[in-house]
Amino acid sequence: MYKNMEVNLKDIKILAIETSCDETSSAVVVNGRHVLSNVISSQIELHKKYGGVVPEIASRKHVELIIDVIDRAMKEAQTEFIGIDAIAVTYGPGLVGALLVGVSAAKAIALAHNKPLLAINHIEGHIAANFIQDTNLTPPFICLVVSGGHSHIVFVRDYDKFQVLGQTRDDAAGEAFDKVARALGLGYPGGPIVDEFAKQGNPKAIEFPRVYFNDDKKYDFSFSGIKTAVLNYLNIMKQKSNEIKVEDVCASFQKAVVDVLVNNLIACAVSNGVDKIALAGGVAANSFLRDILSREAMKHNLNVFIPNPVLCTDNAAMIGSCAYYKYLKGDFSDIELNAVANLKIGQKG
Ligand code: KG4
Ligand code: ZN
Repeated sequence: MYKNMEVNLKDIKILAIETSCDETSSAVVVNGRHVLSNVISSQIELHKKYGGVVPEIASRKHVELIIDVIDRAMKEAQTEFIGIDAIAVTYGPGLVGALLVGVSAAKAIALAHNKPLLAINHIEGHIAANFIQDTNLTPPFICLVVSGGHSHIVFVRDYDKFQVLGQTRDDAAGEAFDKVARALGLGYPGGPIVDEFAKQGNPKAIEFPRVYFNDDKKYDFSFSGIKTAVLNYLNIMKQKSNEIKVEDVCASFQKAVVDVLVNNLIACAVSNGVDKIALAGGVAANSFLRDILSREAMKHNLNVFIPNPVLCTDNAAMIGSCAYYKYLKGDFSDIELNAVANLKIGQKG
C-alpha cells in the first residue's frame, strides 16, 4: 500500500510515535503523505482475557516494546536520525500512563538528537490518515471520526482548523460494538468480530432504535440506547428460552449504528455545502459502514475518502501525517510537553 518514492533533500521526514491506547506504533512519514514505515505492535492478545484494555498493563507493555518498535520503524524506512527532521508524538486524548510512554520516548529522542518536537492530538491524527490514503485530498472536508473512545463529525476547514459539528452524548460507536460483542460472548475487541458475524446475518431481522436529535445539535449521536436495547433483547430471548441468532443480532445492531452515522454525516455535509466527506478511526474499518457510506455518498454527489483499514485503527503513520502540517507552521512543543488524557479536538497545549 505504501508508495515507493525517491526522497529528495527538500523533503520533510518525520519520525512519529503513537501509544495512546493498546497499540505501540512508530512510523517514518515524508511530507505528511508518504509512509516509509509504519510498525504497529498490538497488545490485543494481552487484553483479550480481561475483555478490554487494562490501563496499567497497557503502560507496562508500551515500556517494554517502545524502543524496539521505534528501531524497527527507522530500519524499515532505511533512515538514520541525522535524516529525520522532527519527532512527533500523540500527547492526548488517551490513557495517561500509555500516552506518557510515547511522550517520554519522543522527548528523549528529540533532546538526544536535537530535533524539534511536535505534539499531536490523536483524533486529529485519525483524520490525517485520509491524507496518506489520498495524496490529493485537501481541506475543506467533513470527517466522521469513529473509534473506541470517540464519535465526532468534524468540519476540517484547514489542516489545523477543526470545528466539531456533532458528537456522541454518551457511548462512542466503537464502545457500543465492544459492549454488544461482550454481551454476545464474542470476545474483544468487538468491532471486527461483529463485522464478521453480521456478514452472515439479516440486518432487518430485529428492529433496534436509531436516535436522532431535533435540537440545535442535530448531528449529535447517542448509542447507549441501542446498546441497552440489544441487552434487553438478549435477556428476553434467554428468559423465553428462544434461540438467539447471533448473526442476525450483529447485522441488525450494526445496521442501526451505521444508518445513524451515515445519515448524520451526509446531512451535515449537504447542509454545510461541502462536497467532500471522509471516514476515520477504528470503526471506519467496518465493512458495512464503508459500503453504505460509499453508496449513499454517490447518491448525493459527494466525494468520499476512506483510509485502508490498517490506517483506520491506531497507527503512528497518521500521527506523522498530521505532524507535517504543524511542522510547516513551526508549531513546535518544548521539552516540558506532558500527556493530556482528555485533550479535545482543536485544543492547543
Ligand atoms: O481508533 P481505534 O483503533 O482506537 C481508539 O482510538 O479508540 O478504535 C478501536 C475501536 C474499537 O472499539 C473496535 O471495536 C473498533 O474500533 N473497530 C471496529 C472494527 N475494527 C475496529 N468496529 C466495527 N467494525 C470493525 N471492523
Ligand atoms: Zn484511535
